[in-house]
Amino acid sequence: MSTFVEKYGPWALVTGAAMGLGAEFARQLAARGLNLALVDVQAEALTKVSKALSKEFNVGVRPIVLDLSQPELLRPLQAATYDMQVGLLVNNAGISAIGHFLDVPLEKHLSILTVNARAPLMLAHHFGGMMRARKRGGIIFVSSMSALSGTSYVSEYSATKAHDLTLGEALWQELRPANVDVLTTIVGATDTPGWRAENPNPDAKTWPPVMTAEDTVRETLEALGKTPSFVPGAQNRLAAFLTTRLMSRKSAVETVGKEMDKRYGGS
Ligand SMILES: NC(=O)c1ccc[n+]([C@@H]2O[C@H](COP(=O)([O-])OP(=O)(O)OC[C@H]3O[C@@H](n4cnc5c(N)ncnc54)[C@H](OP(=O)(O)O)[C@@H]3O)[C@@H](O)[C@H]2O)c1
Repeated sequence: MSTFVEKYGPWALVTGAAMGLGAEFARQLAARGLNLALVDVQAEALTKVSKALSKEFNVGVRPIVLDLSQPELLRPLQAATYDMQVGLLVNNAGISAIGHFLDVPLEKHLSILTVNARAPLMLAHHFGGMMRARKRGGIIFVSSMSALSGTSYVSEYSATKAHDLTLGEALWQELRPANVDVLTTIVGATDTPGWRAENPNPDAKTWPPVMTAEDTVRETLEALGKTPSFVPGAQNRLAAFLTTRLMSRKSAVETVGKEMDKRYGGS
């Protein structure tokens, strides 16, 4: 535990921390003894999570209400974190839209690009620089299995998650000499408010099975420092193996596309 704090403490900054995977990252990092800077656009939910975690784990918690899509993102973030050493950055916040590429408004595609790709890039550059100077730290990018091949009906989402995956893997290699661990977690379906809102049939049995946020985050934190990228969940790893190693790129895009058609066709 103290090794974890020594390597990644004293503060972790988690984006999209008011609910879902972000709130679970916050909970498990507090349990490991890190103080928390929690960023989210949902002020009320963020206050609630922050109060609960500071009470349960007796760690410092600073809620930062911020929209990661704003152009001058770093200015308010710097002001809110100027007095803390962020040893672990969790680039978790993400948004998506389901529908045919041409039927989703361009503005929506652009906001997906901004929140899912631009913001993680900016935060990794800002906090990664300070970690490199201190010669310790970690950065987690939360990607998705839809990054593994172009995924219809969530085209721009899957493209931004591929951006995060490639950027994170490259940074793993670049920052290793500075003792900064970078991990991209390639998340499969996980039961969160965001996932429920977008799933027409959230309680249906699927393969791979839907994971709990607790398991997805636990496996991710266990993989930190060991590998550039990681798929939480044994069945998700099998699915990733099938689509990236056994199938041609064409078959993978078609197979995933047929599944998306079943789920969202006609949307
Ligand atoms: N759950 C899954 O099945 C799954 C699978 C693969 C990858 N992932 C990835 O995992 C991450 C977390 O997903 P989740 O399912 O936990 O999401 P979630 O339940 O929707 O929670 C995400 C949180 O981030 C906030 N957020 C969104 N846009 C923001 C912005 N511009 N600025 C600040 N905060 C913002 C959300 O607020 P709003 O409610 O206002 O949007 C929400 O509080 C995402 O990157 C997602 O792509 C999830």
